[in-house]
Amino acid sequence: RPVAILISGRGSNMSALIEAAAADGFPAEIALVISNRADAPGLANAEANGIKTLVIESKPFGKDRAGFEKLLQAALDEHKIEVICLAGFMRLFTAEFVQHWYGRMLNIHPSLLPSFPGLDPHGQALRAGVKISGATVHFVIPETDAGPIVMQGAVPVAPDDTSETLAARVLGVEHQIYPQALRLLATDGIKIDGDVTTSTAGVD
Ligand code: GRF
Repeated sequence: RPVAILISGRGSNMSALIEAAAADGFPAEIALVISNRADAPGLANAEANGIKTLVIESKPFGKDRAGFEKLLQAALDEHKIEVICLAGFMRLFTAEFVQHWYGRMLNIHPSLLPSFPGLDPHGQALRAGVKISGATVHFVIPETDAGPIVMQGAVPVAPDDTSETLAARVLGVEHQIYPQALRLLATDGIKIDGDVTTSTAGVD
């Protein structure tokens, strides 16, 4: 299945997905990487891996979300994209766009949702004093950093952690679970069941 990855920055999750999908027998193909910022460092990495990249700048559209999404949707249609993976994509969508891709668009957030959605999840986790944090891959719904959960991975929080050290530990887990979650979706190993998902295959 042709997959598009949407990025705004570094793109380390994008790289993890590209690497996993390059393996023999992976059930999805990364057909396109789209950035809403021309200066996203991840673009060069995608190109180095031979993946087609596009820049669709969202800034000129300001609050005109639908205007930006029209260009985005045209690019996705042109490349016959069936699944979207958001990977550090820092732009909110309209409810219409989200509805159109419902069940076919994944996001990763660096906390154990539903705890700590939104900005600065690692700072939120440290301030709450949790002893375990992690990352969540979920289907995208109109509410930010919410939606049926596909996969989670946990890490311990160390007493002397800063946002930076915790972020680095969680990132390692992100790079493991995002490819696994995409595999699950691409093999129809998971289905949405109201606000949650049920697995139709063994989770590895
Ligand atoms: C990741 O921590 C991701 O979970 C969050 O933004 C960060 C993006 O990192 N949504 P990268 O661009 O994938 O390296």
